[in-house]
Amino acid sequence: DAVDKGNYRHFMLKEIFEQPSVVAETLEGRIVDHQVYVETLGENATKIFEQVDALQIIACGTSYHAALVAKYWVEQYLKIPCLVEIASEYRYRDTAVIPNSLFITISQSGETADTLAALNKAKDEGYLASLTVCNSPASSMVRESDFTLLTRAGAEIGVASTKAFTAQLVSLLLLMVSIGKAKGMEKAVEQEIVDALEHLPHEIQKALDQAEAIDKLSEAFAEKQHTLFLGRGQQYPIAMEAALKLKEISYIHAEAYAAGELKHGPLALIDKEMPTVVVAPNDNLLEKLKSNVEEVRSRGGNLFVFADKSANIQDSNGITVFPVDSQYRITAPMVYTIPMQLLSYYVAVIKGTDVDQPRNLAKSVTVE
Ligand code: G6P
Repeated sequence: DAVDKGNYRHFMLKEIFEQPSVVAETLEGRIVDHQVYVETLGENATKIFEQVDALQIIACGTSYHAALVAKYWVEQYLKIPCLVEIASEYRYRDTAVIPNSLFITISQSGETADTLAALNKAKDEGYLASLTVCNSPASSMVRESDFTLLTRAGAEIGVASTKAFTAQLVSLLLLMVSIGKAKGMEKAVEQEIVDALEHLPHEIQKALDQAEAIDKLSEAFAEKQHTLFLGRGQQYPIAMEAALKLKEISYIHAEAYAAGELKHGPLALIDKEMPTVVVAPNDNLLEKLKSNVEEVRSRGGNLFVFADKSANIQDSNGITVFPVDSQYRITAPMVYTIPMQLLSYYVAVIKGTDVDQPRNLAKSVTVE
């Protein structure tokens, strides 16, 4: 039963553990014979995608962080601009639309007032079409958009979004490939992405198998007032999402920074009282990140580095390394999301907060 906690203590924990099956469900019928099956978005979608020269993505909260990851993917693989903006900003400002842009909303509920208002505003702004990446088939956003890509995460009860986020990332990757195929993406690139997606449920499961170790690690955070999260590249939005999760359910002040920006301010905050969590990329930015880790360590900071086994970062004074097994670079954001969700969950449990229903927050913000 979708609204039953089963053997889990909280809906949030249940939803975190549902992610391997949610990802598989979201991929179902959309990858056929190792190819992304674009037709699931409708024949007219292909015609629109052929013309697309830019994307404008609008969302709030966790959905906004999914959009930020998509920006890295789109600009790397499609080589077209991908603009991302928070709905409450977009709806109230004068915007300039790049010709032949596709307008995309991302929303778990499909009812967030600011995102809906941005969608309505966009209708008069000359976009090619609107598309929503949404988890609620019967929602206003689905009704109001030209195209829909459903995320199939199932009912999400915990206010802090978890499985809807990974389902959004998977959907955005499918969408990116669909647009790419309409614009002549190379087969080898599609294969590389499909390969990563097909292995993702298993990779997420391996990350979930580390839950006990994360539970232990969470003790180091429960008494702290602040936590800093660092990332680079496509893992920077994952650091932002990790900080949001920790704030939402444990009420610990958390901030995320792009690691290269450390020297422009947050270094001043470093001391042993503020843990720094690093979401390390398994790519060309790793070496850069290692020097950011050193910047924090040498100033007496206390680091928790989530890194690929092959990253070759060792436990040392001030550095606790947590190994994450992620073979595929493009889907690494989804894999690293799992320990971040578990960490905030276990910290909140120690603090005894109302995990599924955090104070002052709503699952769906349908009024301004
Ligand atoms: C609220 C929820 C968040 C969610 C955000 C956007 O703030 O508490 O978890 O990410 O709304 O919601 P949406 O339904 O549009 O994704």
